[in-house]
Amino acid sequence: MDNASVNGPWASEIDFLPDPAAKQKALDEFATYLNPQKVRVMRSAGLDIIEAERSGPWVWDLDGRRFLDCFTSAGSFNVGRRNPRIVAAAHRAIDHLDNGNFLLCSRQKAQLAARLAEVTPGNLSCTMFGTGGGEAIDFAIKLARGATRRPKIISTINGYHGHTGFALSAAGRGAFREPFEPLMSEFIQVPFGDVAAMRAVLDEQTAAVLLEPVQGEGGIVVAPPDYLANVREACDRVGALLILDEIQTGLGRTGRWWASEHYGVVPDIMTIAKSLGGSMVPISATVFTEELREFLIPNPFIHLSTFGGSDVACAVALEVLDVIEETGLVEHAAAMGELLFEGLHVLAKEYPEYIADVRGLGLMVGVEYVEDSLGPRMSYHLSQHGVLAIYSGNQPAVMRLMPALVIEEPEVEFLLDAMKLALNDLRAGAGPNETPTRAPRRPVRDPAKQ
Ligand SMILES: Cc1ncc(COP(=O)(O)O)c(C=O)c1O
Repeated sequence: MDNASVNGPWASEIDFLPDPAAKQKALDEFATYLNPQKVRVMRSAGLDIIEAERSGPWVWDLDGRRFLDCFTSAGSFNVGRRNPRIVAAAHRAIDHLDNGNFLLCSRQKAQLAARLAEVTPGNLSCTMFGTGGGEAIDFAIKLARGATRRPKIISTINGYHGHTGFALSAAGRGAFREPFEPLMSEFIQVPFGDVAAMRAVLDEQTAAVLLEPVQGEGGIVVAPPDYLANVREACDRVGALLILDEIQTGLGRTGRWWASEHYGVVPDIMTIAKSLGGSMVPISATVFTEELREFLIPNPFIHLSTFGGSDVACAVALEVLDVIEETGLVEHAAAMGELLFEGLHVLAKEYPEYIADVRGLGLMVGVEYVEDSLGPRMSYHLSQHGVLAIYSGNQPAVMRLMPALVIEEPEVEFLLDAMKLALNDLRAGAGPNETPTRAPRRPVRDPAKQ
């Protein structure tokens, strides 16, 4: 593998002028004009960070502290933040292109769709572009209903597919849905991993089953070994489609291009988003079979998106796919994931009073604490030791560790050290403001002396 290209090279130190006053102003304005409660919640978890500089696996707070980014916008920075190849591709694109006219056929859309047909499994070969994950899910569900002319969509409890219309109806957590009810009808949720429960509701009225191969927001829950194959078979038996949401799990995150490859299952429809934009542009893709494309033939304008798959975004995404392939990033993620798991298993043995479980695939890792309150507390203590890590939306006891796939051994060690220091803080009974900070803080220089 070409380490230099996996590795950026990333700056582990960036010379910039910290500006705590600008940070405070940003937080105050955020509280006033966006959401004061978000500022409070983030502050209590030590996450009132205002991102300034970013490079590969690292991010710098405007106050000068450096963090290893283990949240990565829930898996959006697989190729690293501001990867130099992606930055260069974005510059080239902006020099010549813009969003493009969405009604016209586009060279960049065609090139990216052709590449996606190459890198996605089995007979997935056609694409509809969008701007984000929710939009990709919405189209997947529209396509499933439109092509089958059936109403029912089955998803899973604690599953997460975004907050747009159809995606929200499939949400596996009531709190997200309830204020907006009634949502779409004929959406059913069953427990994840339970084939019998799935079979019990799958019938000839079912358009599709929608699943994440590894539940992300649900607390890094890995599908049991035969689950996807059994669901695939149960779908086939009643003529229902299988939609796999690879928005968090795809593009190398689990140590394979797609998490479904761990299970040898090919879906009818796959959704891709987040890291496809290389940390730089919004873009998503719903990839499906030629057979399903038949539905679009009579009306090629049945699903439109002005910015979905803009020319600039497609050019950037093409470079993302090249970077993943040419730098061996998928295999690298698998190797770094193994190292991380090894270290976390040691910590789990050392701190059984705090760690209940360590699980995941590749660099999609969940550390389950023994109780919910430890999620936010560990976020806080980790932030004091230079790690940005956030507990799961639907499972606060589970910390997600999803660093950029470009991390190297020293950064895995840094993360494991930080975990140990944070666990020691818990043992010492330290609360907020009582932990010594290891996040190196740049000295604030007097602007008058610049
Ligand atoms: C598995 C999964 N699906 C869908 C989405 C929604 O994506 P977006 O926030 O881009 O709409 C997310 C976002 O976290 C996700 O993790």
